[in-house]
Amino acid sequence: MRNDVKSVLYSEAVLNEKVAEIGAKITEDYAGKDLLVIGVLKGANIFLGDLVRKIELPVQIDFIAASSYGSSTESSGVVRIMKDLDYSIEGKHVLIVEDIIDTGLTLHYLLDNFRSRNPESLAVCTLLDKPERRKVPIDVKYAGFDIPDEFIVGYGIDYAEKYRNLPYIATLKPEVYE
Ligand code: IMP
Ligand code: MG
Repeated sequence: MRNDVKSVLYSEAVLNEKVAEIGAKITEDYAGKDLLVIGVLKGANIFLGDLVRKIELPVQIDFIAASSYGSSTESSGVVRIMKDLDYSIEGKHVLIVEDIIDTGLTLHYLLDNFRSRNPESLAVCTLLDKPERRKVPIDVKYAGFDIPDEFIVGYGIDYAEKYRNLPYIATLKPEVYE
């Protein structure tokens, strides 16, 4: 698996540092409040697990599974909810945690959907952002790294359901996609 890696973009140490930084900001911004952190499966799972341990507030966790991708590297533009939230978000301070925002289509759909459930507040946190790929504007409150338009894997993020368990963020050799 590691032989498929072309280059490591963000090492484990760099990711740890960034996650701690974001967690500290969230702790400060939501001081005195309870926070509901919603992870977008499956990609955000690992980031969320590390992030919540850096948030020093009463935190609840829920997950939603949405997909705008098949197993290819191109967005289909069609968003499907495969698993909805377990609990109501009405009156809560909600922070959506994403692995990566690309076209923004997935989050645009989820934000509309969540707004209609009347949370007290709604904000977005993503580890990675590809701003130049955006098709719909998204208001991102916390972003780890802006990255260029390159397909990446690792730290929860997959290619064809593989590489999620890489402890770093990396690009793959072109022959992997053949
Ligand atoms: P969007 O709807 O185009 O913003 O797509 C967001 C989702 O696409 C992310 O949550 C990822 O699951 C997936 N995605 C976008 N870019 C990449 C990438 O470079 N590698 C792997 N998955 C990606
Ligand atoms: Mg995803």
